[in-house]
Amino acid sequence: MKVAVIGAGTMGHGIAQVSAMAGYDVWMYDLSQEILNSAMSRIRDSLNKFYAKGVVKDVEQVISRIRPTASLEEALSGSELMVEASPEILEVKVDIFRKAERLSERGSVLATNTSSLPITEIADSINEKGRVIGLHFFNPPQLMKLVEVIKSVYTTDETLNMSLDFVNRLSKKAVIVKKDVPGFVVNRLLARLMNASCQLLEKNYASMIEIDSAVKYKLGFPMGVFELADYSGVDVFYLVFKAMKDRGFRGDVCPTFEKMFSEKKFGVKTGEGFYSYPGKGVYKKPEIPKEAGTGFDPWLVAAPEVGEAFWLMKTDTASESDIDTASMLGLGYPKGIVQMGREFGLENVKDRIKKMAEITGKEEYSYLLQFLE
Ligand code: 3HC
Repeated sequence: MKVAVIGAGTMGHGIAQVSAMAGYDVWMYDLSQEILNSAMSRIRDSLNKFYAKGVVKDVEQVISRIRPTASLEEALSGSELMVEASPEILEVKVDIFRKAERLSERGSVLATNTSSLPITEIADSINEKGRVIGLHFFNPPQLMKLVEVIKSVYTTDETLNMSLDFVNRLSKKAVIVKKDVPGFVVNRLLARLMNASCQLLEKNYASMIEIDSAVKYKLGFPMGVFELADYSGVDVFYLVFKAMKDRGFRGDVCPTFEKMFSEKKFGVKTGEGFYSYPGKGVYKKPEIPKEAGTGFDPWLVAAPEVGEAFWLMKTDTASESDIDTASMLGLGYPKGIVQMGREFGLENVKDRIKKMAEITGKEEYSYLLQFLE
């Protein structure tokens, strides 16, 4: 089966790789040979790591299933499933979907990995709207087991079933997001965590290291908040949060993200973000000592995330168990965020959200409280 992956950046190259690992023939498109070469070399590095662990038996065989191409037409012609992972610009995506509708196999799935644009808006740009669906992977796609599956108002059951089959064959876990809301599930949770952390930093209430250390060592999150922003890209999160806000998400984007975006301090990819890295695209884990977080209460930044989880449940966007699965498999949390909140105590969660309202003076916190009642 021919899978077309459109875009060979951080997400696209990973999606192409896991598809090839699952046995699909993959055509990976991007604008230039240079980008494609860099994507292939990242794929090779990742496959070598998997080979060393016995996860992949034959690196060359997997590589041979991936065909890099700078021709969009070549990638899409006769494809039986497309995953689009291009920049988060609606016009760019619309152009790809229009071509895909024409060139791919009739009735095949046209999926987008968008993290912020409504699936329905993308579907609206083509005739066969029922073929469009959101398949939202997480960074790094090679390791994160979650795929959010988002239906537009038009998605047919056939498209949904073919997509679920694809996700299963990649050995990933699908969580169905019932409503096409801005940020779906995981990015709504992250928006609360990251913005709360950033606001405390701006208010000089806590330092970056204090916050990162406390969420890692007291809550057991796999990365600090700012460490994760750098890892996946400050630019990525800024654009996602801004698109969410533009479409009605109740929460401001923290100005520090905007400033860093304009200064091109994107994190690992530019060599400079909240932390510094040895070079552009050269990843080295930041030093985050355990003792640094002793004096900081990480629930100040995690409680708004629990509040958002309750928003998702009360609006019937996702079930409690799906939200917990999503936070464990998409964000690597040791337990689901709702379970963590319940174990901490919902009265304590509310107390921390009220404290955030006091510290920041932001309306979004009183808004969140009503969903915990
Ligand atoms: N391919 C294969 N193996 C890889 C790899 C890759 N791309 N990247 C890392 N590895 C391997 C490492 O070599 C290491 O192997 P080892 O145990 O043999 O040394 C192992 O994976 C663990 O990696 P690290 O030691 O570097 O670091 P961690 O233990 O912290 O694990 C992590 C890395 C799985 C990324 C973990 O830190 C994590 O879960 N972090 C949270 C990531 C997250 O939240 N992602 C979602 C971001 S939001 C998003 O994507 C949505 C978008 O819309 C914005």
